[in-house]
Amino acid sequence: MKTEYREADDAGSWLQEAARIIHSGGLVALATETVYGLAGDATSADAVAAIYFAKGRPSNNPLIVHIPGLAAAKRLAVFSDTAEELANRHWPGPLTLVLPVVPSAQLASAVTAGGASIAVRCPQGPLAALAKTSQRPLAAPSANLSGTVSPTTAEHVRADLDGRIAMVIDSGPAAVGLESTIVDVRGDEPIILRPGALSAEALCMGLLNDASDDEAPVAPGLLSRHYAPSHPLRLDVSPGDVAPHEIYLSFGQPARGSAIALSEAGDLEEAARHLYAALRLADRHAASSGKRGIAVAPIPETGVGVAIRNRLLRAASASG
Ligand code: TXA
Ligand code: MG
Repeated sequence: MKTEYREADDAGSWLQEAARIIHSGGLVALATETVYGLAGDATSADAVAAIYFAKGRPSNNPLIVHIPGLAAAKRLAVFSDTAEELANRHWPGPLTLVLPVVPSAQLASAVTAGGASIAVRCPQGPLAALAKTSQRPLAAPSANLSGTVSPTTAEHVRADLDGRIAMVIDSGPAAVGLESTIVDVRGDEPIILRPGALSAEALCMGLLNDASDDEAPVAPGLLSRHYAPSHPLRLDVSPGDVAPHEIYLSFGQPARGSAIALSEAGDLEEAARHLYAALRLADRHAASSGKRGIAVAPIPETGVGVAIRNRLLRAASASG
């Protein structure tokens, strides 16, 4: 398949073209505020099967369904008062809610991996415009090959999925750079299944999942090998402790030599925006310079730093 690349220009002809592809069961990669997603019609079994196939994703790992607003979400998921309050406060935005699926929702069963719960999210960015224009709920995982880090640019999508999907819409780097926060709102107390772009502080939730607790429930996708660069990763390495065979990802100081700065100013939001591009770049540098590993500076565990550390920990355990 030849993949078509288009810019998300203001004229919006890309939007009509992308909607046409969605209606015919094809796949379009385009940005949300978090990362680039691979969108297909969630009501089409063929489109959903094509998503799993293009990514090489295990079929037991369900997909997030993207909708333009709360009314559309309520046609798919059963909302509790707490869920509705969270949606009202944070949508459109980087928050995904896990809820009981409405039995009459006409979704392809593979979207929920055959389960009784559904993950729904109302995003920002071109993918949100496509959900509105196509008038279809859009199943959209991150637009990377299963097992690699999420794409934050159209170029990352090209590196992973060129020739496997119909279209890529380029709107520049994703604004946030880290995936949405996933909250399970089925029980009495909301539980964070995946820390993400919306920090626990911003969620203002009393009872929170401790992402460092091995016993805590997590999203199915976090159980598999995930978010991993192809070189071994070491965390919390101060500049003086970087080994000669390692590429350094620095934080809070100017990057020296071959180091890659996550944020020279020590700004966590900036580090989140740069993280996945830096991991991809570090992999390429390591391959071309004969280095064998990646060392990452200490990242504070506050705000979006919690999600950054979560992704780095998973990458470190997957690559080690
Ligand atoms: O920011 C994001 O969330 C991006 C953009 C494109 O929206 N999407 C994204 O999708 O990160 P993906 O497929 O890469 O990660 C979705 C995660 C997986 O870990 C999956 O297991 C979990 O959501 N998930 C999906 N449905 C679920 C459900 N019903 N219950 C629990 N976890 C679920
Ligand atoms: Mg993903």
